[in-house]
Amino acid sequence: MLFHTFDGIDIPRLGLGTWQLEGDDAYRITLKALEVGYRHIDTAAIYENEEEVGRAIRESGVPREEIFLTTKIWNPRIEKEEHDEAMKESLDKLGTDYVDLILNHWPINDMEIKRQVVPLAKLKEDGHAKLIGVSNYNQEQLLQAVTDCPERLANIQCEYHPMLDQDPILKSARGFDMLFTSYSPIGQGSTLDNPAIERVAEWNKKTPAQVVLRWHLQQANVAAIPRTTSEDHLAANFDIFDFELSAEDMKTIYGLMKPDGRIIDPKWAPKWDTGVTEAA
Ligand SMILES: NC(=O)c1ccc[n+]([C@@H]2O[C@H](COP(=O)([O-])OP(=O)(O)OC[C@H]3O[C@@H](n4cnc5c(N)ncnc54)[C@H](OP(=O)(O)O)[C@@H]3O)[C@@H](O)[C@H]2O)c1
Repeated sequence: MLFHTFDGIDIPRLGLGTWQLEGDDAYRITLKALEVGYRHIDTAAIYENEEEVGRAIRESGVPREEIFLTTKIWNPRIEKEEHDEAMKESLDKLGTDYVDLILNHWPINDMEIKRQVVPLAKLKEDGHAKLIGVSNYNQEQLLQAVTDCPERLANIQCEYHPMLDQDPILKSARGFDMLFTSYSPIGQGSTLDNPAIERVAEWNKKTPAQVVLRWHLQQANVAAIPRTTSEDHLAANFDIFDFELSAEDMKTIYGLMKPDGRIIDPKWAPKWDTGVTEAA
């Protein structure tokens, strides 16, 4: 496993995403992931699977302190500054005393950033979360958050895959030595039939998903949290530590970035940063 260390805490840079894993699937896949060797699990209050994820963690036999568990506070609770209530509900559902990382799921664009991050910091101070961070913030919001937050932000989680240039926000994250977690890291499957990625995969005797995940992990400060309902894919996605992409392979994949490659763009999204390829 590769790790990013923040404030002495080792964060595994490959994790399991659990969005859209519902009911028994969330339980089954989380349990299987822990058996395969995953030690980083990403959930959120809005995924409505915290109970199943928590039950799988408890029944896995893996000591809680060996698992890096992330959850996220959903937007209306941030708006009402109900971080504390939301955190307690999540901990209750997860059946654990603490999470390793708590994130504000989205920025609230018309609300002062300070009011969004000060209550987040309190969750760390109260021992409910070891680390705190944000998700889907643009560069300007991230800078404001770092400035206004009384505790250090360890993480930003954003969409990132070979079809989406995220150079500006990645640079900011690295500047603050934060972990940048790529969500939708394989572009929800859309990157896998790309001929250039297929060629890199063939050359490395790996699958397209494996080379895309490896591409993430070969970038400084980057983690990836692929989601799957398939136990075969789950195992394959973890089998990426026995090879390395060449500089040429990395360049080929970087070359696919597009200005319109974003998949997740709800109406409450911030004004996204313009990537380098977009500016060109
Ligand atoms: N913070 C946020 O706002 C936010 C937003 C979106 C996502 N996320 C997080 O990021 C995680 C991952 O993102 P995502 O779920 O959007 O997309 P993703 O992980 O990029 O893609 C998931 C899709 O890829 C397929 N897949 C996975 N492994 C595969 C493999 N080895 N071969 C072929 N197909 C494969 C899955 O199908 P199968 O089931 O058939 O394998 C599924 O359809 C989420 O689960 C969530 O935890 C966070």
